[in-house]
Amino acid sequence: MAISNETINEIKTRADILEVVGDFVDLKKAGSSYRGLSPFTNEKTPSFYVSPSKEIYKCFSSGKGGDAISFIMELEGINYIEALKFLANKYGIEVEEEEQTDEQIQAQNERESLFIILNFAKDYFAETLLEHDEGKSIGLSYFKERGFSEETIRKFDLGYSLDTWDGFMKAAEKKGFKREIMEKAGLILASENKTYDRFRGRVMFPIHNVAGKAIAFGARILTNNKKQPKYINSPETEVYHKSNIVYGIHQAKQEIRNADMCYLVEGYTDVISMHQSGVHNVVSSSGTSLTKEQIQLIGRYTKNITVLYDGDNAGIKASFRGIDLILEHDLDVKAVVFPEGEDPDSFSRTMSSEAFVDYLKENAKDFITFKTNVLTDGGKKVDPASKVQVIRDVIASIALIPDGIKRSVYIQSCAHQLDIEEQVLLSELNKLLITKQQKENQQRFRENEPPEAANYPPEAVQEEVKETHYTSYYVERQTLRMLVNYGGEPFDEETSIAEFILDETEEIKFKDEMVRKVIEQSSALLARGEKINPDEFIGPHDPVMSQLVIDLLELNYFISSGWQERHRIGTPHEKDDLAEAVFKVVLRLKRKKLEELTSETEEALKNSTNPQEQDELIKIYIHYKRLFDEVGKQLGIVVAK
Ligand code: GTP
Ligand code: MN
Repeated sequence: MAISNETINEIKTRADILEVVGDFVDLKKAGSSYRGLSPFTNEKTPSFYVSPSKEIYKCFSSGKGGDAISFIMELEGINYIEALKFLANKYGIEVEEEEQTDEQIQAQNERESLFIILNFAKDYFAETLLEHDEGKSIGLSYFKERGFSEETIRKFDLGYSLDTWDGFMKAAEKKGFKREIMEKAGLILASENKTYDRFRGRVMFPIHNVAGKAIAFGARILTNNKKQPKYINSPETEVYHKSNIVYGIHQAKQEIRNADMCYLVEGYTDVISMHQSGVHNVVSSSGTSLTKEQIQLIGRYTKNITVLYDGDNAGIKASFRGIDLILEHDLDVKAVVFPEGEDPDSFSRTMSSEAFVDYLKENAKDFITFKTNVLTDGGKKVDPASKVQVIRDVIASIALIPDGIKRSVYIQSCAHQLDIEEQVLLSELNKLLITKQQKENQQRFRENEPPEAANYPPEAVQEEVKETHYTSYYVERQTLRMLVNYGGEPFDEETSIAEFILDETEEIKFKDEMVRKVIEQSSALLARGEKINPDEFIGPHDPVMSQLVIDLLELNYFISSGWQERHRIGTPHEKDDLAEAVFKVVLRLKRKKLEELTSETEEALKNSTNPQEQDELIKIYIHYKRLFDEVGKQLGIVVAK
């Protein structure tokens, strides 16, 4: 599946960022760039820019940016190779695949064989249901009793497995399929002395992938045999990873796009009954708890999920994790609760399609209302302790939302609904955000990845809290942001901002290798008497550096008319007094570095056994500490922590 380098290069040269983005975003010329509404958020004022000369885009409301390929990856939720194929298709470029190794060929052949046997099984079970005496009298009559129409049965390729040990195996062998592949597909089980069908005497629910190929089965028992599980499912195979798929996605995806919303239910039969009631944008996680991959899969088609819950309170609380996971992936979530004892399947059958659709619309609650209702037992618990618990819980969910604008909308709504000062909620939220950011940056640092700068610092953090919590990565990147965006502007009458930053940070050791590289390159530029300009760092010669700088780009980069068009996006006000802003950023960087040096010295002191060395270290420690406090004072920090 590897694409040859020639093809990749051709795609890169041919893909025109304006054309590629223009297919999805209505772009208008703005200076030397183009501007439109971000396809990644629901913004009302355009903050999405494309620079045709640099072949990059940048979305100021989500912080995302990159080239044509990364735009497609981001938008379609696909990987690099898939994005290349997408663009190849758009430009009619033939994809030349590189020669594959024997191993790759074998793996691919095996996947193909699995798809073939699974497709055969799907047809076999469907035929058994519709044609075979046992299938008709037991399986088909069961589905009919449940009210499934013939059309529905065909739409979902429902089937039946005979109540014998080897009905399927025999039929498959007759067609020349090997037992080995049946076993790999999870269709038969083999022990030492016996090989037999996995699915016996059950109605069959094929699970399809997005493209509509059968990849697994769910099978429901028809008797009340308590010793047997109600459902058995295919095991994980080469082609079936249950955490990566949701049931019904193939049948639902078109309507999910149209409706820009996806209903999420628990069971196979819920999906099917809802389809029959005319609601087609519905999928099921099939009894397992929702995974990140499943959310991302749905996220390819819509950013809105409505979760449907059976009417028993016990299960609902356990479902909070699912809601949080959805929020964390930047999707919006609502919830509908059905009356006690009803699930979407049973409930939809008690009324007309119209009434059912109305019920869903009228009862969809945003997650704040929903959580509040559940936690207060429908508003019954009103004591202060319960209220505090509810606030904590709801704020914890809001803190998971990556998009800052969305967070503040939810905070407002929460303040309103719970009748609490917005400021109180905000400070609670900011506490959580800072801890979260610190953890993430530490994690990234360990994994040697650059941290996320887009949504940090949180909107309304009070100054003194902010100062004590900056991470090394954050201050380094802020410094770099100033350098690449404003390096060419004057700091004072004699010095440029670039000169100021590079002078002041000459002795500082930057931890981030990429930051270091850009700084070094900048010094070289200055030494040659050239100006600092983001373009110096963007381009195909160094994709990692390029991405870093794109991430840091400010709006003025995209607006040639300079300062005239004042949009207060990103970091408001700093442009009013750039020198002041740069000065502060550099001070924060120094303070962080001094903090690190202080604690390193402290550590060395602890480990030192030599009295002379100890003396020396104490002197150094005091020196650093004094500088640290001094810098803090300059920043207006009273209590240094
Ligand atoms: P009906 O009882 O026929 O209405 O099916 P249902 O789909 O509504 O099942 P239920 O609400 O009991 O469970 C929801 C989902 O959980 C099912 O669709 C299955 O995916 C899964 N599930 C339920 N019971 C079992 C079980 O015994 N084993 C496994 N593996 N999954 C189960
Ligand atoms: Mn059910």
